[in-house]
Amino acid sequence: MKLSVRLSAFAGASALVLGAFAGAAPATAAPAAATSGTAAAPDISLTNVKQHLTDLQSIATNNGGNRAHGRPGYKASIDFVKAKLDAAGYTTAIQQFSYNGTTGYNLIADWPGGDPNQVIMAGSHLDSVSSGPGINDNGSGSAAILETALAVARAGYQPTKHLRFGWWGAEELGLVGSKYYVNNLPTTERSKLKGYLNFDMIGSPNPGYFVYDDDPVIEKTFKDYFAGLGVPTEIETEGDGRSDHASFKNVGIPVGGLFTGASRTKTSAQVQKWGGTTTAFDRCYHSSCDTTSNINDTALDRNSDAVAHAVWNLSAGTTTPPPGKVFENTADVSIPDNGAAVSTSVTVSGITGNAPSSLAVGVDIVHPYKGDLVVDLIAPDGSVYNLHNRSGGSADNIVQTFTVNASTEVANGTWQLRAQDRASADVGYISGFKLTFP
Ligand code: TRP
Ligand code: ZN
Ligand code: CA
Repeated sequence: MKLSVRLSAFAGASALVLGAFAGAAPATAAPAAATSGTAAAPDISLTNVKQHLTDLQSIATNNGGNRAHGRPGYKASIDFVKAKLDAAGYTTAIQQFSYNGTTGYNLIADWPGGDPNQVIMAGSHLDSVSSGPGINDNGSGSAAILETALAVARAGYQPTKHLRFGWWGAEELGLVGSKYYVNNLPTTERSKLKGYLNFDMIGSPNPGYFVYDDDPVIEKTFKDYFAGLGVPTEIETEGDGRSDHASFKNVGIPVGGLFTGASRTKTSAQVQKWGGTTTAFDRCYHSSCDTTSNINDTALDRNSDAVAHAVWNLSAGTTTPPPGKVFENTADVSIPDNGAAVSTSVTVSGITGNAPSSLAVGVDIVHPYKGDLVVDLIAPDGSVYNLHNRSGGSADNIVQTFTVNASTEVANGTWQLRAQDRASADVGYISGFKLTFP
């Protein structure tokens, strides 16, 4: 095997010498091992979330006291959220549907970038019932995901997965908007949705801390966050399927979410756990008193931070570092017996600044007696880095990747691999030279 390689190489060696200097072409190396690339989620500003609630309250107040489907306060709420997202750099779309003879609206906001085949989505219904302004139900979830989306933009966050946010219409009439969205999502798009996070009522005035018992990874992400705060959580049981996550769950999309309680009464055990009173979690549920006064700030703050924690952690996943840039020359160059040094080269381009401190130098030299050889790497400015100096005796071939600290060398330019045979009797050839820049 080796003999035949040598023979064929000798046959073609002289013809290929010229090609050795012209044949350097960058190629793409295999990606390096995956590393974890998780950036920490920011603390979400309670002040900002509450400002969104104040704005939603004003919208209701100016539009007959509610933000219900088919009423002007709903469309005004959509326009309010959309304007903030547009200004922050989101790609937004309003999806219209018709229900009860009136037009309903969903708002979908995509954060540009991330893997389009892996989408993490957070959503909240933006409509209220007609009897009140709907500040806890569900200004709270709507404001928390809005502020999280704005925090993504402010951080210039570049998640591995693609991020999407949704504000649903007509939830209060039977999850109408989210069902419409899911039903109109092509099967291929549905399969890209790797997680849907739902936030409906997360600032209840007499709060509990409930985590949906659905997708285990999403559930654990939330539970870990609250465990870090030292706040006990319970599984949400006040009506599975009573919010928009059900629309997603029904078609097999992994879901999760948070909830601080609606009309059910807090038990004494829960009061011991979380404080508050043995009354309804939200005594203003679906009524006119669901105003900005109907919010527990601590619950809203903790849950808003939990939203960001989940959005960050579930979208980060793992990152694959960009593949290294490889410059390679595989033309053969014969090495004359006990003679002059010869070289082969690659031309490096498109790399900013200096070479790395661990430049991978791939050497492939066929020679039956490596103790004859001196092999050097020569940087574009002529600096010499010795790779091999006549060691190895009668062992054959140098097929090895050397690591060279080339950090004082400008990367771009012509790099040479030089080989000289310093003893008679055995001859060989350079078969390959490869530089890999990280
Ligand atoms: N908007 C929901 C509803 O009126 C509120 C709700 C009740 C809820 N129980 C829930 C939200 C459980 C999430 C989980 O039905
Ligand atoms: Zn709700
Ligand atoms: Ca020799």
